Amino acid sequence: MTVETGPVPDSDARTGQQWWREAVIYQLYPRSFADGNGDGIGDLIGARRHLDHLAGLGVDAVWVNHWYRSPMADAGYDVADYRAIDPGYGDLDEAERFVAEAHDRGIRVLADIVPNHVSSEHEWFQAALRDEPGYRDRFVFRPGRGVDGAEPPNNWESNFGGPAWTRLPEGLWYLHLFAPEQPDVNWDNPAVRAEFESVLRFWFDRGLDGFRIDVAHGLVKHPDLPDAEARPAGSQHVKPHPAYDQDGLHEIYRSWRVIADSYDPPRMFVGEAWVPNNERLARYVRPDELHTAFQFDFLRSPWRSDWLRSVIDDALAQADGVGAPATWVLANHDVARAVTRFARSQPDQLIEPDWDRARWAKETPDLALGRRRARAAALLQFALPGTAYVYQGDELGLDEFETIPNELREDPMYRMFGGTDVGRDGCRSPLPWSGEEPPYGFSGGPAERTWLPQPDGWGSLTVAHQTDDPQSVLNLYRAALALRRKLSLGAAESINWLDAGDGVLAFSRGTVQCWVNLSSDTVELPAEATVLLASAPDVQGGTLPVDTAVWLTNGERS
Ligand code: GLC
Repeated sequence: MTVETGPVPDSDARTGQQWWREAVIYQLYPRSFADGNGDGIGDLIGARRHLDHLAGLGVDAVWVNHWYRSPMADAGYDVADYRAIDPGYGDLDEAERFVAEAHDRGIRVLADIVPNHVSSEHEWFQAALRDEPGYRDRFVFRPGRGVDGAEPPNNWESNFGGPAWTRLPEGLWYLHLFAPEQPDVNWDNPAVRAEFESVLRFWFDRGLDGFRIDVAHGLVKHPDLPDAEARPAGSQHVKPHPAYDQDGLHEIYRSWRVIADSYDPPRMFVGEAWVPNNERLARYVRPDELHTAFQFDFLRSPWRSDWLRSVIDDALAQADGVGAPATWVLANHDVARAVTRFARSQPDQLIEPDWDRARWAKETPDLALGRRRARAAALLQFALPGTAYVYQGDELGLDEFETIPNELREDPMYRMFGGTDVGRDGCRSPLPWSGEEPPYGFSGGPAERTWLPQPDGWGSLTVAHQTDDPQSVLNLYRAALALRRKLSLGAAESINWLDAGDGVLAFSRGTVQCWVNLSSDTVELPAEATVLLASAPDVQGGTLPVDTAVWLTNGERS
């Protein structure tokens, strides 16, 4: 692996008001990042202590998941108070300190905003249950169908399994697209709009640089709440659905953009919108709406060149059509880790339900292969124009912890699907920082207390271990981010595909080329090329082995 060093060029897009156009953003899942008080649960003290890990990695910003006060029915996505930090993580002062210390290192900070639903313990829902005037209309309460209203008002399913409706003892039903402890709010009610606008200002006033919008495609429902067409259970909204992606959403985001733009510097948004295609996604990032929205097709893509190329072309074209950057993401806290996704056969869409996940999961994973591909995928991701997200632990090449004992699983998905879906705990195991066995420096407390267990065998994957290994995933990420910055690879410049043969993705970005070999044979690199960075140590003699990526330069501008 060779890395050129030298001064970092200043780029307006990177450092200025539009920094989000080419940023690399680290997703910090606080429950599993670092435990500062030894109770086995990650917290903001722990996160502050490890900010230098992020600075050393070379990211521009950090997105901190779910830090609000919550009964934790869905790991914090059931928010009881949007203006308070959960006591398990710290308090408001601690959050402000985190933001200030990140800023001291030149790292911007985004948090989650969860506007589709609140916790059933939120004071609004409690008041609604007591039928206090003005509160029920902040939620979606409806009479049931059938004899005595005993059937749910429509056929919508919860994303976590079972009906999306729960019945109160008095007979009315309320809507929850996720767990029953997460009642959906009614965005037709002006009080709801005013409250979330106030919450945005509350945090922007405290120096937060932006928000990741949870379930950004939810919020507004079809006014008639019609039955949905049947779709595969657990589907990530690949088909139109009356609960998602409704036109009325966009007016909300236009009003949020006005608020973000009223700050100096302007604040930014990234939307989590699982929509049927990129044409629909582009509607969220029109110039007066959200700045960015995750490109989930990239994350869903199998390790196949034809598939990846068409995803990249489509994503760039659609984003470009509205003047937005594409937002590349390989993993997050809701999907199986990339190393494990790439360690088995590669069916059409890796996290879609219309293939037999249970059967796929029975294939023995080849983790060395998965890790090799994930390293190559990272170089592909960082060579593309636009923003890139890194899910915590991917910079260490962590694999999915698939064998968590069932009694230790925390995800409501596991319970609500009646155990037929193992849920998302496997990608949420606490990070390994040092040492040879759990808790690997995550916590000062004993390993049995970490909120989710960690697997044996992560000793060689800890931050401490990888720091000293020049060939580690961590050092590959560090080198890639430094070079990406130096070469301005995130800049909004088009990519030119090169004809490199079947199974090979190759494109140029000015003088730099990115080659990724997804075929089953070694590939010849251009004779005059100089390799700047390779995803594996065995790139030599002008050839590119299978499942490997390189950045190279031939000195010419294409
Ligand atoms: C988003 C979050 C996920 C959560 C859900 C409900 O998809 O990423 O973790 O369970 O929303 O808030």
